[in-house]
Amino acid sequence: MNQNDFSIAFYDTRPYDRDAFTESNKKFLYNIDFFDFHLNEKTARTAKGYKVVCAFVNDILNEKVIDILSECGVELIAMRCAGYNNVDLKAAQAHNIQVVRVPAYSPHSVAEHAAALLMSLNRKIPQAYLRTRTGNFTLNGLTGRDLYGLTAGIIGTGRIGRIMADILSGFGMKIALFDVYPNKEWAEQKGYTYYPLEEFFKIVDVVSLHCPLTPETKHIINKNSLSLMKRDAVVINTGRGALIDTVALVHALKHRQIGGAALDVYEEESKYFFEDWSVNVIRDDTLSRLMTFPNVIITAHQAFLTTNALSAIAHTSLNNIKAYVDGDELKNKINIEE
Ligand code: NAI
Repeated sequence: MNQNDFSIAFYDTRPYDRDAFTESNKKFLYNIDFFDFHLNEKTARTAKGYKVVCAFVNDILNEKVIDILSECGVELIAMRCAGYNNVDLKAAQAHNIQVVRVPAYSPHSVAEHAAALLMSLNRKIPQAYLRTRTGNFTLNGLTGRDLYGLTAGIIGTGRIGRIMADILSGFGMKIALFDVYPNKEWAEQKGYTYYPLEEFFKIVDVVSLHCPLTPETKHIINKNSLSLMKRDAVVINTGRGALIDTVALVHALKHRQIGGAALDVYEEESKYFFEDWSVNVIRDDTLSRLMTFPNVIITAHQAFLTTNALSAIAHTSLNNIKAYVDGDELKNKINIEE
């Protein structure tokens, strides 16, 4: 197959995606059409004439969408992200559509953002920034805690979680871990400890989420786990929104059961994140309530957003597509049992 007449439809793209992919595509020379709208049931027919669709975290690739993509002649879904909880893999398999992803681009980008969220929350940097911008140089209400000596809890000790553990260990924090597949050798070598989940929640001062979203991890932060946590513990989520039961989180924050939360992802983010709602009415009362807490920081799924990560995402995505075009082994294919 000639790669020059191999067309790819890119969904939910922003200027930074287009820049990175256009640069990387100089080596590949695919026909790329960038769309700024999401892939979903309403838009899926725009894939007509494309063999590949390239989608992102908030595109919807459920059974209905995949049925339409198949009718449109799509053969490959190239996710330009690590997570794939939004793809119905069984539906893709039923239509013989392959699904590839970018399993790792820069785990540092995400771990460093998680650390930045923790530091900002703990030392109240957003409030301090806003105060000094308006000439208010007072310090009342800005007291934080030394992280040194506190216990950081990492859920999910894969690529990102392990880097986060090392960063926080660098601050002098003790490291507590939870993973259903513990990496015991690594933990032993580093002097970190795995705990059963209930004990984990009781001892940590910080919980940072780095596991994938699966039926088992959905709402891993819930009414029960929040009630086990120390009253000044904070939750950092750069994983996926639905790892947290947000209604339970709001309740815990309202009743001062925990110390705060810093969230890069949100259960119902797909309608809002990556869009400008500043002159619109936000109708999601849970998101609106979250934004009112002084001890909550929200960033809009930007943990991956570094130049290093963007160019690695573009390079791996286009290489995944090249492997398909060339009939090579799909190293980054998502298998149903993953
Ligand atoms: P990874 O696959 O290297 O590590 C995931 C870890 O979670 C593994 O050690 C696995 O054993 C563990 N895990 C699986 N099921 C679990 C369970 N039930 N309980 C506890 N641990 C469990 O993945 P990586 O690259 O570290 O990424 C982690 C997650 O971060 C991704 O799944 C994705 O959802 C999220 N992410 C968020 C980004 C953002 O911009 N906010 C960007 C990239 C990834």
